[in-house]
Amino acid sequence: MKDTEDAVVFGSGYLANTGIIPALTGKTDAIFVDELAHACIWAGAKLAGAALFTFRHNDLDHLASLLAATRGQARHALIVTDGVFSMDGDLAPIAGLAALADAHGAWLMTDDAHGIGVLNAGHGSAYGEAVPLQMGTLSKAVGAYGGYLCASRVVCDLIRNRARSFVYTTGLPPGVVAASIASLDLIASEPDYCAQPLRKARLFTEALGLPAAQSPIVPLILGAAEAALAAQAQLEAHGFLVAAIRPPTVPEGTARLRFTFTAAHEEADISRLAGLVRPMVAVPA
Ligand SMILES: Cc1ncc(COP(=O)(O)O)c(C=O)c1O
Repeated sequence: MKDTEDAVVFGSGYLANTGIIPALTGKTDAIFVDELAHACIWAGAKLAGAALFTFRHNDLDHLASLLAATRGQARHALIVTDGVFSMDGDLAPIAGLAALADAHGAWLMTDDAHGIGVLNAGHGSAYGEAVPLQMGTLSKAVGAYGGYLCASRVVCDLIRNRARSFVYTTGLPPGVVAASIASLDLIASEPDYCAQPLRKARLFTEALGLPAAQSPIVPLILGAAEAALAAQAQLEAHGFLVAAIRPPTVPEGTARLRFTFTAAHEEADISRLAGLVRPMVAVPA
């Protein structure tokens, strides 16, 4: 599915990121992380003890300038980003990141938690790009539990021997692994089904005149935490479970509703939802 030689399965995506990043980098190295990357990428980067640089969200120029200024002082460099951003639903510019990684002799790792099973016929956000370290989770579209790294054989062997969150914790129960395998088989054999969540998210954004969804995650930024909670309660009263996301998960002043679409959502429900949400969408001045 990922076109890599090998894969390692962890107990969860969080355990994967907190194991992989410190196994590959240490005190003499540098890590470059998108400012909106998932919390477990930050946890892994902090555990590594490497010099840590934050680049502005999806800003290739900023990353290029950080690499130009600092790459020379580090032995190894690792660039890490979400492939699909978990709270914004937008995509990382993976081709541009891969080109920068290549130009500066850095590794690139993408977290495909929200891409596998739903983007590029289920292959995920990094499919077809030069990404040597493709991490992800089995807990979203795969519908089970667990984390993974797809990479070369030599990297996977190193991770099996060095990643503390792989070596020193119990592996997944067989039933969970079986569920993941069954789900991956479905993903591999049903590309049209995999395309449905994005198609449904786009029906929703189109109905509201919002920019076309890039993934099945669609945020509606409301600003204050109270506004997001009130909107969540209002939608719940109409039978829609939409999470209000607040700081510190998202930056101060950007509390939001986070809509996530699945293949099972009915088109009639999506238009009913759009009708309820329409008054919440700010009208441009
Ligand atoms: C982008 C991203 N990476 C990693 C994780 C963690 O994965 P897991 O839930 O399997 O620990 C999540 C969410 O849970 C996520 O959204």
